[in-house]
This record gives sequence, C-alpha cells and structure tokens, in this order.
Amino acid sequence: MARYSYFLSISVLITSLLNAGFASAECLEEVDLQRSSKSEAKRVMRGYRLLVDTPLLQSDFSQEVFDNLWKVWPKTLSERARLASADVRRKMAFSRYGLTPREDNPEKPLQYVVDSSGNWTMNCFACHGGTVYGKPVAGAPNNRLALQTLTEEVRQTKLQLGKPLSRMDLGSLVIPLGTTNGTTNAVVFGMGLMSQRDVNLNVVFSPPKTFVHHDMDAPVWWTFHKRPNLYIDGFAQKGHRGLMQFLMIPENDRNFFIEHEDDFRDVASYISSLRAPKYLGDINESLASNGQVVFETNCSKCHGTYGETPFYPNVRIDLSNIGTDPVRLHALEVAGRRKYSRSWFAHANEEGEQETVVDPKGYVAPPLDGIWASAPYLHNGSIPTLWHLLHPDKRPDIWKPKGEEFDEKLVGLKIKEVTEIPSAEPDAAIRRSYFNTGISGKSNAGHDYPAILTDRQREALLEYLKTL
Ligand code: HEC
Ligand code: HEC
Repeated sequence: MARYSYFLSISVLITSLLNAGFASAECLEEVDLQRSSKSEAKRVMRGYRLLVDTPLLQSDFSQEVFDNLWKVWPKTLSERARLASADVRRKMAFSRYGLTPREDNPEKPLQYVVDSSGNWTMNCFACHGGTVYGKPVAGAPNNRLALQTLTEEVRQTKLQLGKPLSRMDLGSLVIPLGTTNGTTNAVVFGMGLMSQRDVNLNVVFSPPKTFVHHDMDAPVWWTFHKRPNLYIDGFAQKGHRGLMQFLMIPENDRNFFIEHEDDFRDVASYISSLRAPKYLGDINESLASNGQVVFETNCSKCHGTYGETPFYPNVRIDLSNIGTDPVRLHALEVAGRRKYSRSWFAHANEEGEQETVVDPKGYVAPPLDGIWASAPYLHNGSIPTLWHLLHPDKRPDIWKPKGEEFDEKLVGLKIKEVTEIPSAEPDAAIRRSYFNTGISGKSNAGHDYPAILTDRQREALLEYLKTL
C-alpha cells in the first residue's frame, strides 16, 4: 500500500519508469529524460533497500536476546509481558524502545536490519525513521528512540543468557548514548569513531579522548534535497561520502568505504527523493494566508520562501544572535572539522575537494518544509510544540510527551509539564522520557524572533506553518 512518504516518492518514480517504456521514438529528448528518471528510480529503490536489508555494522544482538528482554523489565511490566502472547510482548518491546514495524513485515522493525539468522543490526532509521500521526514515516526524526535503555537491557539480558557482549554494549559503558528518549549523543559517536582513523580512513590507534557529550534531535531527511550544506552548523558540504561516517567501526576498514561508495550514491539518491508529508488536519486558509505575510516579513530572510517560488537562503546565524544552546557548536572542535576537511569524506565532489567550514560561528536556519511533523524543535529537541517556539516566555522547563499523541492545537507533541523529574521512579525508561532543559546541552533558550509579534500574528503564523 502506497501509504508512507517513501513508498509514495518511489511510486511516483516507478510511474515514470513504466511510462518510459511507452515513449515514442521521435521524442528523443523526452526519452532521455525518462531514461534518467528510470535509472534514478532504480537508485532510489536500491538506496532504500540497502538501508533496510543490509547489515553495515557489527550485529548488536540476536533474536533470542530480543525475545528475552522483557525478563529484565521493571516488575509490573515484566509480569504483564509474561502473561501476554509473543505478539503482544513484541509490540510492548517495540513501544518501550521506540521501534516501529516494517510495512512489509510487521515482526521486524524499520530501525534494525534483521538477517535470516536473526541477527539485529542498527540502521540509519534508528534515528531517522520516526512516526507522524502514529504512523511510520521514513526520514521523520525518531522522537521516541530509547537507545540507552535498549542497550542497557540488552547487556543485562546477554549476561543472564551467558552471551558475549558486543561493541555497542561495551562502548555504551564509556560513551552515553542519549539521556532523553528521542535524542542521542550521535555527534560524539562520530567524533569518537573519527578519532581512531587517519584522513584516508585507515584505522589508527589513538589514546582515548574526552568529549563534550550532548544529545541532539535528528534532523528530517526530507529537506536534504534543498540543503547545500549539512548539519546544524552547516560545516560540511553535502555529498554521498559524508553519509558513511556512521559506519567507521574498526571492522569496516578503508576498503569497506571504497567498496560501498556506489551504494551510498544510491542512499543519497533515496534521501534526496524524500519530501515532507502533508498536514492532514483542518487548515483555516484565510488565517494561513495572513500568516504567510507575517512569515515573509519576519522569518523568510533566514528560512526562505515556500509554495510556487521556493527559495532557500542557507544562512548561518551567529550564536550571539540566535542564542540557542551553544554546546553542540563548541563540542565539535575546529581541529575536528579541519580533519574532516582533509579526509576521504570531504573529497566526494568530482570537480575537486569539498568546501568545509572549519570554524562556523553559529547555526544554519533549516528549511521548514513539513515542520509541523518534526517535533520537538531546535537542534537539541528542547521545545515540544510550534506554539511554544513562537512564545519564548512560555516554554516549559521540564516536560514529557504524553504517549504518541499529536497536539493539533499547539502543533507538536502533547505534553505533561512537571516541576521536577520523579527521581524515585524505578523505571529508567520513564525517567528518560522527561526532557529537562536545565541540563547542559538541553537549554530551550534563544530564537526569540517571534517575541515581537502580536498574539494575532502568532496565531496566523502557526496556521501558516501547518501548510509548509
Ligand atoms: C544514533 C542516531 C543516528 C543514526 C543511527 C544516524 N544518524 Fe544521521 N544524524 C543524527 C543526528 C543527531 C544528526 C544531526 C547532526 C548535526 O546536525 O550536528 C544527523 C544528521 C544527518 C544528516 C544531515 C541532515 C541535515 O539536513 O543536516 C544526514 C543526511 C544523515 N544524518 C544521514 C544519516 C545516514 C545515511 C545514516 C545511516 C548510515 C545516519 N544518518 C544514521 C543521528 C543519527
Ligand atoms: C535571524 C535568522 C532567523 C530568523 C529571523 C528566524 N529564524 Fe527560525 N531559526 C533560525 C536558526 C538559526 C534556527 C536553528 C536554531 C537551533 O536549532 O539552534 C531556527 C530554527 C527554527 C525552527 C526550528 C526548526 C527545527 O527543525 O527544529 C522553527 C520552527 C523556526 N526557526 C521558525 C521561525 C519562524 C516562524 C520565524 C519568524 C517568526 C523565524 N524562525 C525567524 C534562524 C532564524
């Protein structure tokens, strides 16, 4: 069923692929065009299939370990799981860890490759495969991933079953994976991996470094086609090689990267083919069109224009101006970006080397396509709804999402606000569902631009943001 955006974009391409077969010989130009869309459609499909079917890292755990995870859950939950059918137990596990069923096989998650021997290996969708209105949408940030809890419970289960620990199980004892569900310390994983390589990606030994750990909310994939530079500080020029950074485990030597380069051209095609989902609720058209005027007066110079004449300015705003959490900008040091600029990753451009910004002074304003579907907001995921983003003085300090509910009114996550995290809560997964903006790297300050607007202007703007 062509229900999800990735199937949709693929089906659009497949239609052009099928049409290509019926083109008349006279329209050579058109045939060429269709031929290119036919090969592009194939690349897109290969890229998607690679991500969901091919394990590119060391396996994290076996099916047996996954099936036994419930035994280490807190008492009441494990008791419920014990009495449940295997099917219900799997659904409980998926929900606990923020996994979603694959469309073609609901017993398997989108976020892991499960091979024919039952080995589970994390894939890019762990962070980049989330849900919109409770339905999986590839390229939406996975705002429910509980990677820390999953890894801790896998480790405990392996010890109980007498199974050997994997790199992830051991690594997570040294590097925190993510302190709040839905966000991860992903940038530090990348820095840790790169510190064990030379610029040609040969594995080298280097003494362990200390990193500034910080959690980030994964960005959407459906604006990849618009962005010339990647990451919140825009330091890296876009290219297929850069997409392979996550694969630098020691088992993948330099040859692995060279051999898989073409595969990642396909992955880049796949990611470029994605587009934002459409808002399904009601939109007050006249209010939204007033909102468009407010947007174009106050926001477009940084975030661009949408609709018939889309334009994306790709501007970086100094930290002193944007005022959002500074930890991510400083955690990635100039020396680290310089090493990236000299590395294999930054040489993907056929015309020569890529441009790398080694000392960006701030964050790049992202395109806002499908912004309604990518809560929470800002690079650290500290703001639960667009309404709160537009009301800087009303942002909650400590909050937790109420399940998977979408807040139609405030546009974003339905939340519960609290004054402190219940420290006596025995379930780590529940403690980690609270977002505490008082912790380093998690501030919800800054981006105060909407503060000058009247309430009516903000109401109109919120309506307009649903249409992007
Ligand atoms: C553990 C979570 C995690 C996994 C797994 C992961 N990513 Fe990411 N990804 C992130 C985070 C967080 C960022 C934001 C980094 C930043 O801006 O500094 C990001 C950024 C990106 C971006 C840049 C998007 C933009 O617009 O700036 C792309 C593209 C991307 N990832 C692709 C991939 C691919 C391809 C894979 C698999 C090979 C992958 N990611 C695996 C967390 C993850
Ligand atoms: C001076 C430039 C600038 C202006 C003006 C500006 N923004 Fe932004 N905006 C940014 C930057 C930079 C970020 C990224 C900040 C971060 O994540 O730390 C951002 C982030 C956002 C985000 C969160 C994006 C995400 O993926 O989480 C939204 C939504 C947003 N802006 C909406 C608006 C609206 C609406 C206006 C107009 C009232 C506006 N912005 C005005 C620069 C600007």
